[in-house]
Amino acid sequence: MGSPKASPLAHIFRGTFAHSTRSSPMDTLPGHLLGVEESGKIAFLEPADEQEKLAKKWGFKASEVRELSNNEFFMPGLVDTHIHAPQYCFVGTRLDLPLLQWLKMYTYPTEAKYKDIDFAEEVYTRTVRRTLKNGTTTACYFATIHTDSSLLLADIIDKFGQRAFVGKVSMDINESFPEYKESTTESIKEAERFVKGVLEKKYSRVHPIVTPRFGPSCTEELLSGLGNLAKTHDIHVQSHIDESEGEMKLVEKMFPMHQNYAELYDKNNLLTNKTIMAHGCHISDEELKLFNLRGAAIAHCPNSNISLRSGLLNVKKVLKNNVKLGLGTDVAGGYSASMFDAIRKAVVTSNVLQINKENETALTLKEVFRLATLGGSHALGLDSVIGNFEVGKEFDALLINTKASDSPFDLFASDTLEDIIHKFLCLGDDRNIEEVYVAGKLVVPFSSSV
Ligand code: GUN
Ligand code: FE
Repeated sequence: MGSPKASPLAHIFRGTFAHSTRSSPMDTLPGHLLGVEESGKIAFLEPADEQEKLAKKWGFKASEVRELSNNEFFMPGLVDTHIHAPQYCFVGTRLDLPLLQWLKMYTYPTEAKYKDIDFAEEVYTRTVRRTLKNGTTTACYFATIHTDSSLLLADIIDKFGQRAFVGKVSMDINESFPEYKESTTESIKEAERFVKGVLEKKYSRVHPIVTPRFGPSCTEELLSGLGNLAKTHDIHVQSHIDESEGEMKLVEKMFPMHQNYAELYDKNNLLTNKTIMAHGCHISDEELKLFNLRGAAIAHCPNSNISLRSGLLNVKKVLKNNVKLGLGTDVAGGYSASMFDAIRKAVVTSNVLQINKENETALTLKEVFRLATLGGSHALGLDSVIGNFEVGKEFDALLINTKASDSPFDLFASDTLEDIIHKFLCLGDDRNIEEVYVAGKLVVPFSSSV
């Protein structure tokens, strides 16, 4: 394979890069050179006319530079801040009922099947393959109440090289499907076994996350036990909050001693700067203040919110309150496992809020692109590691081919680079994703060993 490599770099790419920064929702950088160290970290991102200087500094030859074609560009990997892996087997079906009935009729009976480890292996493998193929380099997963199949999910993710948080679901109340719950003591014990089990594996990029399902499925004893578990190990927490009106009424009835839903989590040490709560469609100003104070984040799942008719989250209001926010697919409440769908539905939701005069202006596609990448990394506390192509961060990236042979959109001579990227974000899919990298390692196309 050519001459021996002279430089300590794993990759050197020359072409167009599009990413977000704190000051710009989308920076498009044509004619740039990006180097990735063997460790997976980005060594440099500079205009290509600096090549000679960079080659000297890093000791690489021109022959080691991979030149992208005019149709290709790199963007950061997508961060799905909320997805239920076990629900992937029924994604795209059963969206005819509102949240609480949907859980009772479809979700709990399906999740109960993951006691069977072989069934879990089949679905979890397909979930990880599908999300990676669609450009999700980081995912924050809910599994089920079953510790062993949840540990298997962590193993599968690691094998495929995806970056993730994985949570064994904790729940000790389930009146609508009593076969699917644990006793309080067992639930706390198993949550601990799961967390320790994942930590002991010392995966480089797969972490455990404490996962009470949501207010209505937990006693306060369980919530407080889980809060202690998160504190002891200094780890992340995820759950659902203020998703639907039915759910919120139930929480009010079950926990009258708390001012609001956020306080229920907060009083049990579950609202921290390592917490990510899904939905928040009906979150109050007071709750947003508490989120800001604690540094907790929201996972905005627009497909699910519309498909289950739960509500519309006002993202602009969340951001105005300086609360961190990422996007999530919420498979299978959301009917697509692709974060490109989440991007599009987030734009639609924001447009509807403007039509309804709840906002003066809607979020732009560029702003939503930032939420799906840098925003998600911030929400998960990973913004010093991933989210864009800043030097020193790990190279989580998608190589996009806007003229893939079966591309679902067409380009014309009049299209500017910005038009091309917008067309891809609105109309593209996995046929346009040629390669996916996590920490500098090629994970799609899949290696023959997985
Ligand atoms: N609230 C509690 N469990 C769930 C779930 O599985 N999906 C959604 N969307 N909301 C929930
Ligand atoms: Fe969810």
